[in-house]
Amino acid sequence: MEEKRILCIGLVCLDIISVVDVYPAEDTDTRCLSQRWQRGGNASNSCTVLSLLGAPCAFMGSLAPGHAADFVLADLRRYAVELTHLVSHPESSFPTSIVIISASRGTRTILHTNRNLPDVTAQDFEQVDLTQYKWIHWEGRNAAEQVKMIQRVEEYNRTCPAHQRVSTSVEVEKPREELYQLFGYGDVVFVSKEVAKAFGFHSAPEAVKGLHSRVRPGATVICAWAEAGADALGPDGELVHSDAFSPETIVDTLGAGDTFNAAVLLALSRGQRLQEALTFGCQVAGRKCGVHGYDGIV
Ligand code: ADP
Ligand code: FRU
Repeated sequence: MEEKRILCIGLVCLDIISVVDVYPAEDTDTRCLSQRWQRGGNASNSCTVLSLLGAPCAFMGSLAPGHAADFVLADLRRYAVELTHLVSHPESSFPTSIVIISASRGTRTILHTNRNLPDVTAQDFEQVDLTQYKWIHWEGRNAAEQVKMIQRVEEYNRTCPAHQRVSTSVEVEKPREELYQLFGYGDVVFVSKEVAKAFGFHSAPEAVKGLHSRVRPGATVICAWAEAGADALGPDGELVHSDAFSPETIVDTLGAGDTFNAAVLLALSRGQRLQEALTFGCQVAGRKCGVHGYDGIV
């Protein structure tokens, strides 16, 4: 039987990337090492990685017309990401990020603009045929709507045998109060270093222990922490850790977290244990940091 797909719901945008040796000072004129357009957005990046890792996947998100949209659509097709759940907004502008990657420091500085593109709603999600998917991942955005979508999956799961159930995960990446309601949903909750710090935690193990009471019983909370690797606390209270796998040279950390999330949820969806999934996530994310873009991760 064909492997069921993983659906990622969230942002697709255009990343306009300049790679520089040293991050420029304000009001200076710098020659870049290279420049490129790249499809971006957390959920869209995770789809790229899932595809490269050989997992059938689908993207659900909003789209506004224009050259940027044409570019990202062609790119999604190039990576064989299924696109049956795109929601068109002809009156909106396409979201864009200006990204400056500093080759010497391994940093990525993002200036993001999203003027008026609405996120997908619970009503849009009604169209999704849940029997097609084995896992659905939400990049935390319009959280109240996303809660309704997850509740629809929970209701569906109550009606079907265990092997047909759809697993769920959410990512709480931005330190925004509205997103914190998502902690209470999903089988797996990814929380970023930035959010962990906003809660006053100083490390990934501190964060997963401190946030475990907020996730629903039986759920797993995972926190990645750049070169410190990642930690997770599973349903039975087991704390697991993976060190980072640093490449020889860090050239591009843009989307390292999205890469980590994709690799972890793929491993979990294939029945691997939490420790194996975390280690795999750090391995793939480490490889990503050593290459420009994503193509070199496999
Ligand atoms: P992002 O900032 O994109 O959200 P994170 O900092 O959370 O990404 O990192 C995600 C994962 O990527 C980490 O758990 C780690 O495995 C890997 N990673 C990120 N930065 C580095 C780095 N400088 N060296 C090695 N691995 C890294
Ligand atoms: C990386 C990323 C970029 C995008 C930005 C949006 O995680 O998804 O591709 O420009 O974050 O916040």
